[in-house]
Amino acid sequence: MDDEELVEAARDVQSEAYVPYSNYRVGAAIETADGEVYVGCNLENANYSNSLHAEEVAVAEALKDGHRDFEVVAVSSGKRDAVTPCGMCRQTLAEFCDEDFRVLCDAGEDGVREHRLGDLLPETIGPETLGK
Ligand code: THU
Ligand code: ZN
Repeated sequence: MDDEELVEAARDVQSEAYVPYSNYRVGAAIETADGEVYVGCNLENANYSNSLHAEEVAVAEALKDGHRDFEVVAVSSGKRDAVTPCGMCRQTLAEFCDEDFRVLCDAGEDGVREHRLGDLLPETIGPETLGK
C-alpha cells in the first residue's frame, strides 16, 4: 500500500471512532513488514481517563494476528491537522519499531507530514534497555 492509501485508510476508520466527549476523531493505519494493514480508531470513556487511542488499537489489532514487525503508520484526525501520536502512543510504537520507523501525519490539503519515530521519541527506554 502506498503512503496515500495508508493515510486514506486512517481517514476512513475515523467514522467508527467513539468520541462523545472530545468529539475529536482519530484514525490510524499501520502496515506490517509483510504488507498487511491494520486500522484503529479512538474510543473514549465516561471516566475520561481510560480512553483507547487509535494507534494503540491498530497495534493491538495487528498483534492479535501475530504481527510484531512494522514498516509505517499513518495517523489522521477529523481536523486533518497533522496530529502526531501522543507520548503514550509513541512509546507503544517504540516497543516494536526502531528509530527509522515512518510516521505519516495527515495535513489535509497541505499533504502528508512524515516523521521518524526516533525524532518523535529520542533516547527512549525500549526492550533493548532491559536486555530483550
Ligand atoms: N488520541 C488518539 O487517538 N491518539 C493520539 O495519540 C492522540 C489523542 C485521541 C484520544 C482522545 O480520544 C482524543 O484523541 C483527544 O485527545
Ligand atoms: Zn496516543
